[in-house]
Amino acid sequence: MTSAISLFAPVEDDLRQLTENLKSLIGARHPILYAAAEHLFGAKGKRVRPAIVLLVSRATMMGQEITTRHRRLAEITEMIHTASLVHDDVVDESELRRGVPTVHSSFGNRIAVLAGDFLFAQSSWYLANLDNLEVVKLLSQVIMDLAEGEIQQGLNRFSSDLSIEAYLEKSYYKTASLIANSSKAAAVLSDSPTETAEAMYQYGRYLGLAFQIVDDLLDFTGSTEELGKPAGSDLKSGNLTAPALYALEEHPILEVLIEREFAQPGDLEQALTLIQNSKGLERSRQLAFQHSQDAVKCLECLPPSESRQVLTKLTEYVLRRLY
Ligand code: IPE
Ligand code: IPE
Ligand code: MG
Ligand code: MG
Repeated sequence: MTSAISLFAPVEDDLRQLTENLKSLIGARHPILYAAAEHLFGAKGKRVRPAIVLLVSRATMMGQEITTRHRRLAEITEMIHTASLVHDDVVDESELRRGVPTVHSSFGNRIAVLAGDFLFAQSSWYLANLDNLEVVKLLSQVIMDLAEGEIQQGLNRFSSDLSIEAYLEKSYYKTASLIANSSKAAAVLSDSPTETAEAMYQYGRYLGLAFQIVDDLLDFTGSTEELGKPAGSDLKSGNLTAPALYALEEHPILEVLIEREFAQPGDLEQALTLIQNSKGLERSRQLAFQHSQDAVKCLECLPPSESRQVLTKLTEYVLRRLY
């Protein structure tokens, strides 16, 4: 598997700087939050989102150096993402993230809620200081979308009549919105034409959806060790993702198991076996593949460059996580 690290070689120096900056941006004032931030930004996040922001920045600057605002946007993007993970792990009661114990399991729920809030607040402050109203609007929308996504997911737990369309909408809110809007914001900071900025938004949207579909597949096929977070927890907690939704079309008995929330012994195991023996996994792979192909097409408006090439490869990397 090509690691994200080798793929990101062209922006590796920028990413290293970003990690250092994030620690100092967050940590200056509160030792306890510094400990939580250190813990998170020191751990092995893939840094996919800031890498995309930096690559779109370069690809749209046409050979000119990217600006400090572009770099700050990349930091804000990773800050928002990390804040959402800290809160998500509280909601999901997950014990492991980025291969290390989650903030709430190390420091308790109170600190985790405060640390997440603090990260969101910090990101808003740095966002406002970019002094670009359009970018402020794009990224504020993301923070609203993240909450909307978690709420939709919470409301739809164990609803076996969830449609694939509703699943994709929720995935847009939870995952694709951040990648789409931060990619567009990078193009806006480069003073790109509106069509280019819109194409970058669509690239991020398709890539983000592919990324989430793959992540949902890995929850069925990956190991906790590989993922750095607990595997096999979506179905158990009633979060119905693409493989389960497709399998429901083939095996109506799944509906019974889901609706009674796997209350009887062996229910969850039976459901997992039904999903494994359905076309759900393959159809989900196809769905991810289609979205990653659509993402590639959005890059056509960019002039050829190394950064554009990496953005293209990133669409393959997302899928390669599967093999
Ligand atoms: C995790 O995102 C949340 C999802 C959208 C699936 P990542 O898989 O990018 O998490 P890190 O940043 O590498 O930990
Ligand atoms: C992660 O969502 C948080 C957001 C994308 C906001 P999930 O709960 O689906 O992902 P993991 O499995 O915890 O990374
Ligand atoms: Mg989670
Ligand atoms: Mg969650």
